Amino acid sequence: MSLFIKKSIKSLLAAAAESDKSLKRTLGPTALIALGIGAIIGAGLFVRTAAAAGGNAGPAVTISFIIAAIGCALAGLCYAEFASMIPIAGSAYTYSYATMGEFIAWIIGWDLVLEYALGAATVAIGWSQYLNDLLHTFFGTTIPYEWSHSPFQVSEAGVHGIVNLPAILIILLLTMLLIRGTAESALVNNIIVFVKVAIVLLIIGFGWSFINPANHNPYTIPADAGTVTLNTGIVHNYADFWNNGWAGVLRGASIVFFAFIGFDAVSTAAQEAKNPQKDMPLGILVSLVICTALYILFSHVLTGVASYKEFLTQGSEASVSYAIRHHMPGYEWLAKLVTVAILAGFSSVILVMLMGQTRVFYTMSTDGLVPSVFSKLHPKYRTPYKSQWLFFGFVSLFAGFVPDSIVGDMVSIGTLFAFVLVCLGIFILRKTDPDIERPFKTPLYYIVCPLGALVCLGMIVSEGWENWARLIVWLIIGFIVYFGYSIKHSKVRLGADTTPNDPPNPKYVD
Ligand code: ALA
Repeated sequence: MSLFIKKSIKSLLAAAAESDKSLKRTLGPTALIALGIGAIIGAGLFVRTAAAAGGNAGPAVTISFIIAAIGCALAGLCYAEFASMIPIAGSAYTYSYATMGEFIAWIIGWDLVLEYALGAATVAIGWSQYLNDLLHTFFGTTIPYEWSHSPFQVSEAGVHGIVNLPAILIILLLTMLLIRGTAESALVNNIIVFVKVAIVLLIIGFGWSFINPANHNPYTIPADAGTVTLNTGIVHNYADFWNNGWAGVLRGASIVFFAFIGFDAVSTAAQEAKNPQKDMPLGILVSLVICTALYILFSHVLTGVASYKEFLTQGSEASVSYAIRHHMPGYEWLAKLVTVAILAGFSSVILVMLMGQTRVFYTMSTDGLVPSVFSKLHPKYRTPYKSQWLFFGFVSLFAGFVPDSIVGDMVSIGTLFAFVLVCLGIFILRKTDPDIERPFKTPLYYIVCPLGALVCLGMIVSEGWENWARLIVWLIIGFIVYFGYSIKHSKVRLGADTTPNDPPNPKYVD
């Protein structure tokens, strides 16, 4: 049987109709946009902007944000076409199973672990940094360095990290919350979104007058900017190819790309949207546009207030409150507010990611591609509790023992790879299945799809061989699992599609 056996769209739509009975269509365009922004603004902006500026792009990190946004917008259009073609709660995994076949769906589903599980780990590490900042500000104390950092990190005083306990703690708390089934209501989400956007606007507004034009000049990092010795003793050399000039800006784009991850979360709410065909693309694209504008202004202020080199050394942790404290006299209160808001904002991002991860594996498990333990529901709370615990263990390993820069890069490369597949998928489907009903069509698809794939590929290339190697190793593990387990247990392959009463549809089954 073909590797590319497909799940019938009819069965997916039948499943959607079934769940339509339980899910209410309550989300209008504003709620969808808020959902997008809620999932988007997080550690990418408040942690990785400084990392990208400090190491690679300098003040031109603003341009890195524009490049990353272009890649996301092009992929976003393709996502929107997928989401409208199969308007059910799901993800790129579900869409591709019906359109590109099981093997591609497997690659995307496996790859999404990098986006969701490691994404949760990255934001949890950022959460830990800001928790220490909060403890320092309000109580004059911090969690000892060795218990709040990974073994690969060293403090300025030469203390080595052992494990990042606060990062594991926040994952534990949110895992327990998810098992209880405490769903984020649209109201809570709207409040968090309001707080996050307000904080970003306050920083832009108050920080603007503290911009030192000298910090913005030159705008990209010159090749002769010298070297900076990090706390770990590693020497960062600005003369290296990806650490200066336009190559640095592109590398910066792949770092801050993380800040946009989550806009695809809008597509998971398709079944709760009042008018999915029109509002899904709107929700995805408008939330992207709003965030891009905020990110450009924010990064302009941040790199104007502090010099980019500071973000590699003293300002490498809790970078935003560092910049306010050291360069905006009289605004200590803003630094405090930022820290509290960031902790709340990060928590909601981690929650969405942990939930997204278990839901993708839940679907893959009902399809037989991963073991049934991932779809076992709690007898009382009806949540996939075993899966939630398993992922607690997995995510904690990364959050506790790996630095955020490495985990964050793995998230970015994994997500970029999924975007490339989605862009190519839409292009191929237009050729192979022109007759599928497409309520939303990607405009100028013959340009948008290849260009989207190309921009994302450009960012992948700039990630460097270490990250390519990590992605390749992850995919190889995925292939071993697929050929060792999934292919033998696939329900579609065994002729038992996951929805009852589904007559095989010759158009979509190989
Ligand atoms: N975009 C999300 C963040 O920046 C993942 O935290």
